Amino acid sequence: MFPKENDNPFEVFASWYKEAEDCKQITQPDAVNLATATKEAIPSSRMVLLKGYNKDGFVFFTNYGSRKAAELQDNPHAALCFFWQQIGKQIRITGKVEKVSPEESDEYFASRPKQSQIGAWASKQSQPLGGKKELLAEVAKIGIKYNIGTVPRPQFWGGYRLIPDAIEFWQLGDFRIHDRMVFQRSGQSWNVQRLYP
Ligand SMILES: Cc1cc2nc3c(=O)[nH]c(=O)nc-3n(C[C@H](O)[C@H](O)[C@H](O)COP(=O)(O)O)c2cc1C
Repeated sequence: MFPKENDNPFEVFASWYKEAEDCKQITQPDAVNLATATKEAIPSSRMVLLKGYNKDGFVFFTNYGSRKAAELQDNPHAALCFFWQQIGKQIRITGKVEKVSPEESDEYFASRPKQSQIGAWASKQSQPLGGKKELLAEVAKIGIKYNIGTVPRPQFWGGYRLIPDAIEFWQLGDFRIHDRMVFQRSGQSWNVQRLYP
């Protein structure tokens, strides 16, 4: 259902997200585009997976040595954009990003399959790679190292939380008469505005 002016944007997000999760045709409802920019305002974007959300913000995990991490270090402003074509919905979120606590990163890392944990250790994400063999050799080496026992979280890998200052809901309409509504944070509450589609 399209939001009403008095709705809480986190609750609207939760209900739209659930609709996407419940839709059998949507195989990756958690896939979201993340846009960052350098301090010179040169943008870049890529997909990440949403791993958690609540009224504090939206969480994803990545390599703290990656390009996105370098950009977020210099410029914490970022944007997320979900698009679920099968239910005709887009959600855009902007705000500032901060690292989640080491404990939160540890907890999520521990929940991942062992092969993914090894993959996190093996990837110098966003750095030049000589060839696929180089990466596979690194995966094999780390696999042997942690053959027995648990894999600790690399210090260079963890989560970020985007704390929203605006959340916009877009709903597909007939003949391009779409609905758009943006919630903008204003202190403890939200200003609500409909926009031309
Ligand atoms: C559907 C999808 C989900 C992805 N999820 C993540 C993710 O959660 N974390 C991550 O670091 N990279 C993820 N990636 C890879 C990123 O898109 C990107 O290639 C990588 O993070 C390096 O980006 P950067 O060089 O801009 O830092 C995903 C890619 C796709 C296509």
